[in-house]
Amino acid sequence: MEKKWKKLAPQQIRDRVFAALEENVNYYEEDILGVPASHLDSKVFYQQHPFLKDAPFISTLLRNPNHIGCHTLDRSESFFKGTQKLEREVIEICARDILKGDGDLFDGYVASGGTEANIQAIWIYRNYFMQEFNADLTEICILCSADTHYSIDKAANLLQIPLRKVQVGKDRTVHTDDLHIALNEFDGSGIKYLIVIANMMTTMFGSVDPCDRYTDTIREHGGFQFKMHVDGAYGGFFFPFSCESSRLNFTNPDVDSVTLDAHKMAQAPYGTGIFICRKGLINYTNTKEASYVEGEDFTLIGSRSGANAIAIWMILMTHGPYGWREKVAILKQRCDWLCAQLAELGIGYYRNEHSNIVTLDATKVPSRLAADYGLVPDDHVSPSWYKIVIMEHVSMERMEPLIEELNALNDSVNA
Ligand SMILES: Cc1ncc(COP(=O)(O)O)c(C=O)c1O
Repeated sequence: MEKKWKKLAPQQIRDRVFAALEENVNYYEEDILGVPASHLDSKVFYQQHPFLKDAPFISTLLRNPNHIGCHTLDRSESFFKGTQKLEREVIEICARDILKGDGDLFDGYVASGGTEANIQAIWIYRNYFMQEFNADLTEICILCSADTHYSIDKAANLLQIPLRKVQVGKDRTVHTDDLHIALNEFDGSGIKYLIVIANMMTTMFGSVDPCDRYTDTIREHGGFQFKMHVDGAYGGFFFPFSCESSRLNFTNPDVDSVTLDAHKMAQAPYGTGIFICRKGLINYTNTKEASYVEGEDFTLIGSRSGANAIAIWMILMTHGPYGWREKVAILKQRCDWLCAQLAELGIGYYRNEHSNIVTLDATKVPSRLAADYGLVPDDHVSPSWYKIVIMEHVSMERMEPLIEELNALNDSVNA
């Protein structure tokens, strides 16, 4: 199958974005009278500056397309059809080239972030169980690990469905014993429908759930219907490149949907969470009352900036798939270096071998050092862990002074 994801030259990127804008309505020149929207305020934001002809992202911001709705379905708002096409390419690249699915068999959209994308998934599955199995809210439960991001707690609260967190072992993955205990509890409480959240790199540890442990145990136990969502909000633009043998992708028939945030590892502007699911699922969150929106609205958010999709598209096309692998390999190499330094210093840490997050034992890191180097604790009141996230700006040169300070502390303790 032809790959959508190919590196483009800056000129090609510029041309594609401006051509897409040409296909959208133009508030500056056309009689568009019925929409509660316009270009950005012309008294505040430059409209005519010469640099704009070489600035496709900023030009898109000024033109202010609204990507309301879902554009992988057969019909959506025709005013912004040019830039919607590039959003569709983003979804296709993520589904096909990153998550190894057949690109045409997926729906998705650029959400406000990982929180929304995760809520969207749980909303879909809650409605799926209610509509297809006549499930009662008390018969549906979200099943996830104790290290799962708090957006899942928000979803449980908003959608009024129970949540069961499974304990994690020392390797920060779901503990099979507690998984069995949870399933036995469900038998007793009448829960029959499970929304499983598998983490592709957790927020604090970068740990990755062996998703087969969930699905094998659930099948072995019997008696449940389940849907599985992968939370790759952090790991979605990293893990698929660092772990070729990953099962957290669409080659695994049990994976129904994935969140991957471009505003984390892909360094896109905020507002670039990505939600992708297998075809047929997003239909369970169609708000038919959105009758003034062409094609109706299947998403949680409503209005959203088309410039966000353009930013992701430009980033992906600038690097291309090989460039992306190189980017990930560099971050991984720095992470290996950091872990080697910590091991030499005898400082305990957790790291998944395919990840770029290193989480340090807080008893070995004075709080002053954590504050000086912007290390993030698991708990601001009583930290047990501090994490280092190897992003583009976190070079070995930036980490070296921290290592030196930790080394000096070691020397003073041993003196
Ligand atoms: C694993 C994971 N899921 C979800 C989220 C929520 O993402 P956002 O802050 O973009 O809503 C985060 C944020 O850090 C995350 O790390």
